[in-house]
This record gives sequence, structure tokens and C-alpha cells, in this order.
Amino acid sequence: MSMPNMPNVPNMPNVPKRITQSLISRLRSAQRVVALTGAGVSAESGIPTFRDAQTGLWAKYDPTQLATPEAFARNPKLVWDWYEWRRALRRDTQPNAGHYALAALGKRVPRLVVITQNIDGLHQLAGSSVVIELHGNLQRNKCSRENIVIERATARPTDEGLLACPRCGAYLRPDVVWFGEALPRDALERAFAESTQCDVFFIIGTSGVVEPAASLPRYAKRAGAFLVEINPEETPLSAIADVVLRGKSGEVLPEIVKRVVGQMKVICGL
Ligand code: APR
Repeated sequence: MSMPNMPNVPNMPNVPKRITQSLISRLRSAQRVVALTGAGVSAESGIPTFRDAQTGLWAKYDPTQLATPEAFARNPKLVWDWYEWRRALRRDTQPNAGHYALAALGKRVPRLVVITQNIDGLHQLAGSSVVIELHGNLQRNKCSRENIVIERATARPTDEGLLACPRCGAYLRPDVVWFGEALPRDALERAFAESTQCDVFFIIGTSGVVEPAASLPRYAKRAGAFLVEINPEETPLSAIADVVLRGKSGEVLPEIVKRVVGQMKVICGL
């Protein structure tokens, strides 16, 4: 089948040649696919990653001063303002072709579950229907004492420019997982269950150094899944992957899905 009416299909010189037919056939026959994603999948949307040497958030900011419960107790205003800055950054971004490709693949395979470490909500915005958020979501706030989600509109502004819980008066904090905190139990249990029952497991845009997320591919592999890593850089998980695609997810994923689905227009919304 030719696709004559796609004159503006982007030329994809960076798409690794290793998108083998066997990978495509596995995806076409797969019943359950999991995609574990990290900050790299949102990089092409303009959201900085964490550990990139130059542009990474942790290259510019000290996580112990901004992303721990101790830091919030010490200086809630500093932490709150930093997350308000990240929310403003997120407001100006849209999903990229990588997010849309996963959403399109999710409509083609019987079950595709996105397990994300990202707190930006871009997978859901791109149309992915089953998304497990391991590290919370930037758009939500919760009471720092009662640990329950509180709607921003119901919160009481404080003199210091923070928001207080309407129930107990404690400060609100972003509903995200900070270093040293446990992941949401339900999300973690679902993530392990999905990872140990899938046929194909994608590892996309994560440095694979933060636990327990970094263990999911190992559990999937042990349970027999076929592991595919998409990342321009080598990671500790590259060694266990069955296929490694060295490229940007916003370029590689559309190409994979184009071959699985054969309809480029659907994927990139062209
Ligand atoms: N496409 C695919 N991968 C990319 C791209 C891209 N366009 N750009 C960068 N990457 C890769 C990098 O090579 C790196 O391996 O994405 C990875 C991003 O790694 P990190 O910055 O460490 O982000 P992540 O793995 O998501 O961090 C895990 O750590 O700081 C905490 O809670 C935070 O969820 C985060 C967790």
C-alpha cells in the first residue's frame, strides 16, 4: 500500500536502522504492551530532564533543597515557588510525537499500559487511556499533614504566599513523590502486576537509576517480556534490553507505530 498523500512526512534520518521486522511482528501479535517512561519522553516538548549534564534540573538545582519532605519543612516557600515555576513551564507545553505515537499504539494493541515517572500529565493529554503515575502529578495538590488531595480553589491563601488546607490549616504541597518518600501503593502494585504480565516492555527516556521504577524492566524480563529501550544515551538498563534503539523517542516511536499501524497521519496529527 503506498501513501501518496503524505508529502510532508518528516524525513527521519535519526531513526535507528534496528527497527527490525521481528520487533514490528512482535508488536503486531502482542496482547499486552507496557511502556515505562521517564523525563526523556517529554524533553522534545520543552520540559527539561533531570540528569542531563547541562540542561538537567539537577544540574542547576539541588534536589535536597527542593524535592524532599525535609526541604519543605525547612523552607516551604522555596519549594512551593519552585513547583509553581515548573507548573508554569508545563502550562506552555504540549505532548510531542512520541506521546501521540504511544497513544496511537494503545488504540491498536489489545492492551497498552503507560507506567510513567513523569508528573506532567502529557501522556493523558496525548490520549493514552491507561496511565499509571508512579511519582504523582504536578497539577494536583495535597494537604501536607493529612496527605489527601485538596482542590486548589478550596484552599486558603496564607500571608507568606502559600496555600493552606481548608480542613486542618496545614500547608498544601504538590501531590508528587519526593526523594525518601514511598510511592503510591496502588500505583506501584499495578505497575509490578502489569510489568510481569506483558509481551513487550518499552523502556523510554529514563536513565534507569531511580528505584523502584528502575526494577520494573528487570521483573518484566524475568517474566519473559521482550525489552525495547529507546534512548539516545546508554543506560544501566541497556544491557538487559533485547533491542536498543539509540534515538529520540519523538522520532523513533512514530516510525515504529507507522510500521505497526501503517498510517502516519493518525500518529502525528498531520
Ligand atoms: N528521547 C528519549 N530519551 C531521551 C531524550 C529523548 N528525546 N532526551 C533525553 N533522553 C534520555 C536521557 O539520555 C536520559 O537517559 O532520558 C533520560 C532522562 O533521565 P533522567 O533525567 O534521569 O530522568 P528520569 O529517568 O525520568 O528520572 C527518574 O528521578 O529526579 C527523579 O522523580 C524524578 O521521575 C524522576 C526520576
